[in-house]
Amino acid sequence: MSAPRRNVELKATDPDPARSLAVCLQLGATDEGTLVQRDTYFRVPDGRLKLREQEPGGAVLIQYRRDDRPEARESRYRLVEVRDAGAARTALDEALGTLAVVEKERRLLLWEGVRIHLDAVAGLGSFVELEGVAPAGSDLSGEHDRVARLSEALGIDEARILSDSYSDLVLAAEQSSEQLIAAARAVLERAYAPYSRYRVGVALRAPDGSVHVGANVENAAYPLGNCAEASAIGAMVAAGRTKIVEAAVIGDGEEPCVPCGGCRQRLREFMPLDATVHLLAEKGARASMTLEELLPRSFGPEYLP
Ligand code: THU
Repeated sequence: MSAPRRNVELKATDPDPARSLAVCLQLGATDEGTLVQRDTYFRVPDGRLKLREQEPGGAVLIQYRRDDRPEARESRYRLVEVRDAGAARTALDEALGTLAVVEKERRLLLWEGVRIHLDAVAGLGSFVELEGVAPAGSDLSGEHDRVARLSEALGIDEARILSDSYSDLVLAAEQSSEQLIAAARAVLERAYAPYSRYRVGVALRAPDGSVHVGANVENAAYPLGNCAEASAIGAMVAAGRTKIVEAAVIGDGEEPCVPCGGCRQRLREFMPLDATVHLLAEKGARASMTLEELLPRSFGPEYLP
């Protein structure tokens, strides 16, 4: 059996990937270009097992383990080249089950044996990863040293360092999306919609994790009715929050409820264009998209002086 390879790893959120790229190039790192990667993590009793499908490049099965500690830590891994990625994915999924799928664009740079990953991960945001790859027999002190030097140059402070793998983060995000959707579903029950009989519930998550809900409120003088988005935004602002990181909209009927044009603009006031809006039907149908997909080429607060 082949011995595992080892490296020293550090992962952190990256508020400014363009700056990180500039710092790395300034240090003399070589730019290896951008890779599009899709990692499928399988349910395994020990460590982690993922199938990586990569463009350009092929597919590789990666088995690894490391402790979930935040500081730069050792990882032991094995890489197995895979010729038929589709068949491998299906076989592993049938046998073990899929835990999570992580899609990202990775800008790869190399500096003194350290792999630098500037990752844009779908649904999660931007991260920087440092991997000091160890030759056989290394006591890892040189790898630790180089990772520490890079981390300092990149200005990575402790608060940004992460111990979770992307799969854990994706799973946590999926769970919190489901909680947001459950909150929207619950408030739909409180809608006041005696005239249209189309109830809508909305839940908004603020950056601090707080969730704010609202339902549509109709009126016998029809034009005075207001949409659920407006109610939820009102509740959020009343609670002292003015930013939305994720939204869920659910309506009666078979088709996922889509926010009306006016409400897309209402969301636009408080929400970044790349944030996700979940659209749902009470009967179960669903779709998720970014605000920009709902409202392309839009006007927003940044246009005003
Ligand atoms: N409605 C919303 O609450 N949000 C939307 O984005 C679409 C429409 C409500 C308004 C009205 O009470 C009912 O759905 C039928 O138009």
